[in-house]
Amino acid sequence: MADTEALKSTPKDWTPEVGAVETVPHGPKPPVVQFKQVTKRFRQGSQWSTAIEDVTFVVDDLPEAGELITILGPSGCGKSTVLRLIAGLQPQFPPTSGEVLVFGKPVAGPGPDRGMVFQDYSSYPNRTVLGNVEFGLEMQGMAKKERRELARTWIEKVGLGGHETKYPHELSGGMRQRVAIARSLALHPRIILMDEPFGALDPETRYSMQETLIRLWRELHATIFFVTHSISEAAYLGDRVYIMKSGPGRLVEEIKLPRPDESPLAVESRNDFREVVALLKEKVHGGSAKKRSGTSD
Ligand SMILES: Nc1ncnc2c1ncn2[C@@H]1O[C@H](COP(=O)(O)OP(=O)(O)OP(=O)(O)O)[C@@H](O)[C@H]1O
Ligand SMILES: [Mg+2]
Repeated sequence: MADTEALKSTPKDWTPEVGAVETVPHGPKPPVVQFKQVTKRFRQGSQWSTAIEDVTFVVDDLPEAGELITILGPSGCGKSTVLRLIAGLQPQFPPTSGEVLVFGKPVAGPGPDRGMVFQDYSSYPNRTVLGNVEFGLEMQGMAKKERRELARTWIEKVGLGGHETKYPHELSGGMRQRVAIARSLALHPRIILMDEPFGALDPETRYSMQETLIRLWRELHATIFFVTHSISEAAYLGDRVYIMKSGPGRLVEEIKLPRPDESPLAVESRNDFREVVALLKEKVHGGSAKKRSGTSD
């Protein structure tokens, strides 16, 4: 199911803006997310290992808009750690040192302002599609009629209309991931944390999910942090791409990109898009021609 209608318009020049990671807030409002010299160490027996070190960045609260930030880096560089620190999820949360702020306040744990979507299509096996999407609303204490209506709206929005009574085992991977997205977005979080959500999908389904995501994001004005191992996915989706390195995990660079106005398939055949992908590949692999640790395309 393609969402190309929402994306059709004139192609534009695709010039990336490579620079240092933004660390100082600009707007009058508190930033959506701010990391101040955040370090996370884990103890393994008598040894300590550093998951991320001294990570500092700021994502401003833009009026009537949200940013989509994609995160690229080798396996183990701390991408999930960053997401889980924002989400307030243990054991990554709390940080060993430094501050994680959401809308100017230190994160104290999970909250309804942040929603998370994982790679493994996490849904409740004994609940139908409708039951799954309704679940969080039920937890929030929303009345049955109201939550049913809202859940149905979100099921439509993610393209699953007609599948309300199916159980997760009756759905394809892509459909299950649509359930997970609907469940998270129905709660209307201001921040959406997505950890390789499309990593296990075939290319065609993945393109379609990317378009769905952009369409919903335009409607929601949420800030999305999106971890991926696919460089072209990071380039297609990201207003900004954060580049992380390992040993220890750190955030080294950000690349600002124009927002694509075509479908992912159309974009991939463009020379300027290919140049951006080549640039990001160079950044992730640090100039080595040898492909390392799982980053694709
Ligand atoms: N609960 C934990 N206990 C011990 N070490 C951990 C824990 N969680 C993460 N780490 C370590 O922290 C580092 C960063 O892990 P993280 O999962 O954030 O990496 P990642 O960039 O998401 O990797 P991947 O791309 O493979 O998902 C790794 O070295 C990992 O082994
Ligand atoms: Mg991870």
